This record gives sequence, structure tokens and C-alpha cells, in this order.
Amino acid sequence: MIDSRTIDQAVARLFSELSFQEQPAGLYDPLRYTVALGGKRLRPRLCLLAYSFFKDEFTPGILGPAAGLEVYHSFTLIHDDVMDRSPLRRGSETVWKKWSETTAILSGDVMCIDAFKRIAQTPVEVLPEALSLFSRTAAEVCDGQQLDMDFEGREMVGMDEYMQMIGLKTGVLLACSAALGALIGGADARSRECLYDYGYNLGLAFQLADDYLDAYGDEKTFGKPIGGDILNGKKSWLSVRAAELLSERAAARDAASDAACDAACDTASAAARPCAAGPRAAAYPGPAAHPGPAAHPGGPCPGEASAAALAEALAAPAASPEEKAAKIARVMALYESAGVAPAALSAISELTERAVSRGCEADISDSARDSLRSFAYSLVGRVK
Ligand code: IPE
Ligand code: IPE
Ligand code: MG
Ligand code: MG
Ligand code: MG
Repeated sequence: MIDSRTIDQAVARLFSELSFQEQPAGLYDPLRYTVALGGKRLRPRLCLLAYSFFKDEFTPGILGPAAGLEVYHSFTLIHDDVMDRSPLRRGSETVWKKWSETTAILSGDVMCIDAFKRIAQTPVEVLPEALSLFSRTAAEVCDGQQLDMDFEGREMVGMDEYMQMIGLKTGVLLACSAALGALIGGADARSRECLYDYGYNLGLAFQLADDYLDAYGDEKTFGKPIGGDILNGKKSWLSVRAAELLSERAAARDAASDAACDAACDTASAAARPCAAGPRAAAYPGPAAHPGPAAHPGGPCPGEASAAALAEALAAPAASPEEKAAKIARVMALYESAGVAPAALSAISELTERAVSRGCEADISDSARDSLRSFAYSLVGRVK
């Protein structure tokens, strides 16, 4: 087993020594720029961590693939920023903003190829399996990114579909990082599976935290613009869960209203029915300024926090800085009303626990299990 300090040093050395072809500079400078901006380097860290459970020293056969995972991840960010129209990444201008969209496309493409070259440094005994795992993962990330884009144009997305999408765009690469480290380390198939599942669930928790920080983070620390998901009308864990919570609340209110109505109708004459304007309207417990049942019989009150109001707020166009600020404020007010922020934090903890308990089923030492726990818990409550 290799200790965590040695892993940190190996990661630092790996990226200080990482180099790309010099010319054409217009193609390779964006790669150097992106890698030099740093980032958390979680994927190579996780890969080396999983490897460290089975081996006592690092060799080029693990360091090359570990770097390949980060190069692949950074490539996905270059393209993702074009897709999400994001101007800021790792606290600096994104590649498409600093250079151009065409640069982001081609530099991203060559970066993806570079990643495969590094993965191919895997020792030959496990190379076919490593390439099969990595290429499957790389394609799944694209599947997830496409679903993410498709969801932007849909009014409603269910939580199951959403979790499947983030599993693809984010979960599988963390899963692959852990499984690849274990594979190169010589772990048995069952342990590799446990570590894959650890990375997958951690990836889900990680994307939830990313969604949370996109709304509630600090731009300086997070290194990305706050409110970007809202402005893009993105489906995030917050928007999907808030829509669910608001719908559940409306259904509960309708049920209570129906029950009150039924009870009243049992005793009142048909002419004096209190629910004549519609059952929901009769029992609406809204603010004093509420316009009254006749204005919106049986439907949600104007200005009321509802799933429909949230969908409308997320879909609203916003061009000027003032319109953008107003759109973000409106959606955040609906999140607040739904109580979605504490729900996100508890979902992150739950997924992290699930990751740890699955990872601990691997055939590894107790101190390796402690390392899995520390790695996972270091991501809960993250601010960047
Ligand atoms: C950002 O990943 C993209 C997501 C999967 C949420 P990271 O948060 O790991 O980005 P860096 O590498 O640290 O910049
Ligand atoms: C990106 O998800 C996931 C991938 C790049 C594959 P996001 O779009 O949420 O990532 P950020 O927030 O831009 O880092
Ligand atoms: Mg995206
Ligand atoms: Mg993005
Ligand atoms: Mg995000």
C-alpha cells in the first residue's frame, strides 16, 4: 500500500512534467493552458488510490493512464464549455472564449486522442481490458452530454432519467478511474467491480454537489460562473427535485382541500357548497394579496410557487445583465420555497455513504478502506 502523501506527490510531479507536442502552437497551446490551470485532479488521484491498494510503488504503466484520465476529463470540459456557453473555467477564461469555438473543437479533439495514447501505456497484460473499459466510458460520457443537452429543451425531466444522465456524463469516468487503477494494480474482478461502483456513486454525489454549487457556490472559489445552469435552462438536481417537491406539495394541498370540501359538502346544502369555484381554490392557504378563487378556479395561483412556475422561470429568455439577474433571483426564490437546498445536501451525503459502503466490499485492507472513506468525505461539503 502506498500512503496518501506519496500519492499527492506523484500527482503533482505527473502534471508538472506533463507535456504536449509543441507545434502547431495554435492547436496545442490550449491543451497546455487547460492543464496548467490545474483543477482538483480527482480522477488521476482516484486511479492512483485504487492502484495503491494492490501495489507498493508507482510505475509508468500506471502513471501514464492516470494522466490520460485527467487529459480526457479536461478535453470534455473544453467541449462542455462550448456546449454550455460558459465563459469561465478553473477561475480563468474558457478555451472558446480565449481563442475561438473552432480552436475549442480541434484542440479538444486532439486532446481526446492524446488521452487514448496515455491510456495505451497500460501494461500489455491488461491493455485490451483497459482499452475496452476506457473507450466504453468515453462513449458513455458523450451519451450523457447529449442527454444533458436534450433535457434543456424538455419541460419536465424525471429524477430517474436525471440520475441516469449524470451517471453517464460524470459517474462513469470516476468509476472508470477507480476500476482502471485496480485493474492495473492486479485486483480481482469482484474488487474491481466494487471500486467501479464506489467511483460511480461518488460521481453522482459529485455532480449533485456541482449542481448545488452552480446555484449556491462562490464564483471565486468555485472557478465557474454562478447561476449558469439557471440561465441555460439546464436540468440540474435542484431543478428536477424542486419541481417534484412543488408538485408533491400541490398534490397534498389538493388532497387536503378535497377532504375539507367533502366534509363540508356532507353537511351543507348543494346550493351553498363552499367548493363551488373548484376544490383547490376553496382551501388555498395563500398570501393576503391572493386574488381569490374566481380568478383562477382549480389552478395554481398567479405568482404561486409551483412546478409550472419553475419550468416557466427556467425557460424564460434573459439577454441583458438585469434580465439575467432577475431570472436567477426568480428561480432561486422558487428553490427556496421548495426547500431544495437542504434536500440536495442530504442526497449528497446519502450517495457518498452508498459509495463508501460499496467500495469497502472490495478485497482490500482496513487502512485501504479508511483511505476510501477519507477520499469520499473530502468531497462532501466541497466548495470548489
Ligand atoms: C467538473 O469537474 C465537471 C463535472 C463533472 C462536474 P471537476 O469539478 O472535477 O473539475 P476540475 O477538474 O476540478 O476543474
Ligand atoms: C459537465 O457537467 C460534465 C462533463 C464535462 C462531462 P457540467 O456542465 O455541469 O460541468 P461544469 O459545471 O461546466 O463543470
Ligand atoms: Mg454541461
Ligand atoms: Mg458545463
Ligand atoms: Mg455544472
